[in-house]
Amino acid sequence: MKAVSLQHITKSYDNKHEVLQDISVTIEPGEFFVLVGPSGCGKSTMLRMIAGLETITSGQLLIGEKVANDLPPVKRELSMVFQNYALYPHLSVAQNISFGLHAKKMNKKEINTRIEQVAATLQLTPYLQRKPRELSGGQRQRVALARAIVSEAPICLMDEPLSNLDAKLRTHMRAEIKKLQRQLGITMIYVTHDQVEAMTMGDRIMILHNGEIQQIGRPIDIYNYPANPFVATFIGAPPMNIAQATVTKQQLIIEDTWQLPYHLPSKLPNVKIGIRPEHIYPPDTIQQGFATTILVENVEMLGTETIIQFTIGTATWYAKWQGQWAISSGQSLVITLPYDALYIYHTETGELLKKASITTQGGVADV
Ligand SMILES: Nc1ncnc2c1ncn2[C@@H]1O[C@H](COP(=O)(O)OP(=O)(O)OP(=O)(O)O)[C@@H](O)[C@H]1O
Ligand SMILES: [Mg+2]
Repeated sequence: MKAVSLQHITKSYDNKHEVLQDISVTIEPGEFFVLVGPSGCGKSTMLRMIAGLETITSGQLLIGEKVANDLPPVKRELSMVFQNYALYPHLSVAQNISFGLHAKKMNKKEINTRIEQVAATLQLTPYLQRKPRELSGGQRQRVALARAIVSEAPICLMDEPLSNLDAKLRTHMRAEIKKLQRQLGITMIYVTHDQVEAMTMGDRIMILHNGEIQQIGRPIDIYNYPANPFVATFIGAPPMNIAQATVTKQQLIIEDTWQLPYHLPSKLPNVKIGIRPEHIYPPDTIQQGFATTILVENVEMLGTETIIQFTIGTATWYAKWQGQWAISSGQSLVITLPYDALYIYHTETGELLKKASITTQGGVADV
C-alpha cells in the first residue's frame, strides 16, 4: 500500500488558463478516495497526471516516498481503467484481461486462476472467449475493470468505470469494487460525476468545480456540513434548497417573502440560506419552526417517499416527505421549516457561516 500526495499541483494545457488550480491532498495507503465533480471540472486530467499520462504544470506529485513528476508510467506501479476503456480488438476477453500478467512473466496456472476469479466477480465468465466487438458497452467496460483488478497493483485509478452499466448492475458493481479494494488492500482513486457513487463508495471524497477543490472529507460529514452552496447542491438528491435572504436584527427575510423570527450572530445585510428537502416537514410535526403555505407545482411519488416541488421568490425548492402523500399539483399545502435546520452561507464568498444543528431526523443513530 502506498500514499499518493499532490502538493500545490496546477495544470494548464495552453499556458494561459489553468484547468486545475493549486490541488493539495494526500491519499492515504489503502484508502478508497473518490474524485467527484461536474463534467469538465478536471477529474480525468488529475487522474491522468497521477498515472503519468499528462505532464504536471507545477507542483509536486509523490507516490509513496518518491517524487514522481517525471517517473515513467510503467514505473509507478499502478493500474488504470480509462474513461474510454481501450481494449485490444484482436484479443479475446480472457487475453485482454491477462495482457499485463503475461508481460510480467507470471506462470500460466496462476494467470488462469486469476482470470477465472475476476471473471466470476464481474459476471464475465460466459464471454471469456469472445472478442471486444462481440460485447455490449457495459460488458466491455467490465473487461477493462477486470484487467485493472487482476494486476493487483498497489494503486488503482478508475475513471468513471461504471458509466455504461444499467442501474441494477451499477449498484452491484459498486459493492463488488469496494469489496475487492478492501480484500486486496489497494489504494483506490476513483473518478465519477455521480454523487451517489461518491457517497456510497468513498472513505473520503474530494469535490472539484472549475479546477478548484471545494471540499474534502468523509461523505457523511460533507452531506451534513457542505462547505459552500455548490457542495450543498451537488451532494444530495433532490439538492439542498438555497435562497437569498435579508438579515435584520430579529428577522430573516427569505426571498422577500417569508419573514422568520431569527437571530443571526452576523453583521451581514444579505446571506444565502439552505435547507435540505427532508428537513421541510408536514404541519404540526415539529416544535420550533416556521409554518407557511405554499403552492404545489409538482409531486413525485416514489413509493417510499413523496417529493413536492414549489417556488419561493426566484428559487425552486423541494420537500421530501417519508411515505406516500395524496398531494396534487396546484393545491395549497402547509409546510414547516425548523429553525435549527437552516444553513447560512456568505452571499459573495459562499463560506458556511452557520451549520444546521439537526442532521437527519433524530440525528445519526448509534447501534
Ligand atoms: N488534451 C487537452 N487539451 C486541451 N484541453 C483539454 C485537454 N484535455 C482536457 N482539456 C480541458 O480541460 C478541462 C478538464 O477536462 P477533464 O477531461 O479533466 O474533465 P473531467 O472532469 O474529466 O470531465 P468529464 O466528467 O466530462 O469526463 C476541460 O475544460 C477540457 O476541455
Ligand atoms: Mg473525464
